[in-house]
Amino acid sequence: MVILSYIVEVQSATLARMLTVLATDFSEEEQARWLALLRDAMPGETLVTEVGAGRATDVDIAIVANPPSGALAGLPQLRFVQSLWAGVDRLLADPTLPAAVPLARMVDPAMNEAMAQTALWAVLSLHRGFFDYAEQQRAANWQPHAQRRADEVAVAVLGLGQMGRTAASRLAANGYPVTGWGTRDTPVASLRTCAGDAALASVLAEAEVVVNLLPLTPATRGLFDARRFAGMRRGAALVNLARGAHVVEADLLAALDSGQIGRAVLDVFESEPLPASHPFWRHPRVTVLPHAAALTDPRSAARVVAANVRAVRAGAAPQHLVDRTRGY
Ligand code: GLV
Repeated sequence: MVILSYIVEVQSATLARMLTVLATDFSEEEQARWLALLRDAMPGETLVTEVGAGRATDVDIAIVANPPSGALAGLPQLRFVQSLWAGVDRLLADPTLPAAVPLARMVDPAMNEAMAQTALWAVLSLHRGFFDYAEQQRAANWQPHAQRRADEVAVAVLGLGQMGRTAASRLAANGYPVTGWGTRDTPVASLRTCAGDAALASVLAEAEVVVNLLPLTPATRGLFDARRFAGMRRGAALVNLARGAHVVEADLLAALDSGQIGRAVLDVFESEPLPASHPFWRHPRVTVLPHAAALTDPRSAARVVAANVRAVRAGAAPQHLVDRTRGY
């Protein structure tokens, strides 16, 4: 009994010393909101935003959102990194990210839901001509267009991860014939799915609307280039809700100007915020969103983080670990 309580005391003394660091590029206000929610969700953790002198050896968990390069270097006890972002491409590109530490990406049903809403809004607006009507309004132009049924509009969703699957299923539930394409074939109930380069060419050739929800990896960077646009159906629309670097922006502008691509709905860009002088801002057939298709919701995400931190503390495997060789 005496021995047991001694062990418990030693363990809690050891645990009490360990720090969880929150490293982000958030504004002070955002950071304060996250801190409050994270502290509520994991009251046992000592959560800090600055690792003071001499405390680097006490940090064993990091929670990150676009941390400044080097923020995770020099933490010898670091044993788990939790991203607050779903996409970890930027994190993986940081050469100072410790190589062997398990890294989890954010997977939150609230984010998947937001992404599915954005995909549905974009496809519905393209299908029903609502972007054209918005433009017509600016010119006081009263001109109804022919109305088509959803089952007449072939949609391709690229990327069958959490967000891609949720978005594709939502679109299918709204009557669109959806083909899901992934880098690996992932069967999804009620969807036609496929994988591989040859299948991608035919999926793109058939679709009237292409929704991109792929992870950004060396294999998908620059996927939408002049050659790919030329292989798409003439006048098709591109909805990019994933990463700006999936698209060669100059090639997209050329494809829009030639009419090969009819319209683009873009949430993400090579350079963010999108520079004020960028032609996308004023292009009549481009709709720009400020990387807001699916924001991390701190209320639900804090609970997702807490569950993973609890798992790590209990010696169990955290969820949604990134496979660094795959890049997501
Ligand atoms: C947003 O783009 C994210 O990766 O969470």
